[in-house]
Amino acid sequence: MNQNINFIPFARPSFSKEEEEAAANVIKSSWITTGAVTAEFEKKITELAQARYAMGVNSATSGLHLALEGLGIQRGDSILTTPYTFTSTAEVIRYMGAHPVFSDIEEDGFNISPEQIEKTFQTNSGKISAIIPVHVGGNLCEMEKIRPFAKNNNISIVEDCAHLQPEPLLEDNESILVYSFYATKCITTGEGGMIVTNNDKAAKRIKTMRFHGIDREAWDRYRSKTTNSWEYDVVAPGFKYNLPDILSAIGLVQLDKADEMLQKRRQIAKTYDESFSDCDFIKIPPANEKSSRHLYILRIVPEKLSITRDEFVNILMDSGIGISVHYKPLHLMSYYKNKYGLKPEDYPNSLERFQQSFSLPIYPDLTEEEISVIIRTVKMTGEKFRRFPDARGI
Ligand SMILES: Cc1ncc(COP(=O)(O)O)c(C=O)c1O
Repeated sequence: MNQNINFIPFARPSFSKEEEEAAANVIKSSWITTGAVTAEFEKKITELAQARYAMGVNSATSGLHLALEGLGIQRGDSILTTPYTFTSTAEVIRYMGAHPVFSDIEEDGFNISPEQIEKTFQTNSGKISAIIPVHVGGNLCEMEKIRPFAKNNNISIVEDCAHLQPEPLLEDNESILVYSFYATKCITTGEGGMIVTNNDKAAKRIKTMRFHGIDREAWDRYRSKTTNSWEYDVVAPGFKYNLPDILSAIGLVQLDKADEMLQKRRQIAKTYDESFSDCDFIKIPPANEKSSRHLYILRIVPEKLSITRDEFVNILMDSGIGISVHYKPLHLMSYYKNKYGLKPEDYPNSLERFQQSFSLPIYPDLTEEEISVIIRTVKMTGEKFRRFPDARGI
């Protein structure tokens, strides 16, 4: 490790004075919960996405839950999704009393495979109410295959866009898209999320359900000067999932910087790609042109190394580099494993990807020096533990 650098965190928010001032202005305004600032944040994202609705929520987890609720998912329904994701994607299915039906990822990537989706659909006799694809690391799933399949079979789509930043919605996209503004995400408000859709019926329900099932928002009630402005009705037992103005103020600043931050992540990914292109002991991540480059997931090539993924990661961590693993698949997690009787080999691609992968730091504020240290340490570790069959007499 370079003398000037003790530790490179895995993630670091890209904040400046502007975010501080924006949050302070809301505090000084004395309206600190959901109000005009969140409305402005939603308006900006509606325009950016060229969608009919953008609805702020306090996390992507609550957004995914609301999306399923808004689609009218029923207890006992089957929802198809990937095991290669964070637990939020599947836990919201259980919130609804529905069941996740997992479908394996691509042969060589990290996203759910359209071919596997069709197979899983057949195995479940077509009884699938919705699909939740996850754009892992910001790399887009093959939606051009998944969308027509879903449409032909009358299946709704909720896209887990936690690793993306809001962008224009395709005209024919009838999905509900859910973004995350969690601390490590492309744009962050600390905690937060946004639901984007053109689905009128679901949007109406989501707006009501994100705030206790009340037919009017607090902002609307308190600012109104008309008679009985205090009055409201509860039309359903809703949730407390609204996005407060303090967070939206930070989000507005982050949104202004989103493109710049995206270009920086893309530049870092390019530097990593080029630097690792001559290393046969690791595979660089696949990425399509539109990838947000939220994660940079490397894969070790076990035949070329005498150490495991865990040992590789431990060496990097001991060298002061923050590393994460995306993901330990859900079918290996106790709850899903026990509840649905799942075995590790049920999803071989997910299992293999998990055993081989680890994620490097990739964020706009990563310095040139830190990037060099990361590249040098990965390369030195690989070279040191390269498997030389002849030299070792095997
Ligand atoms: C793929 C995926 N989906 C959903 C979520 C949940 O996001 P949030 O923390 O905003 O609820 C995350 C968060 O890490 C995620 O990585």
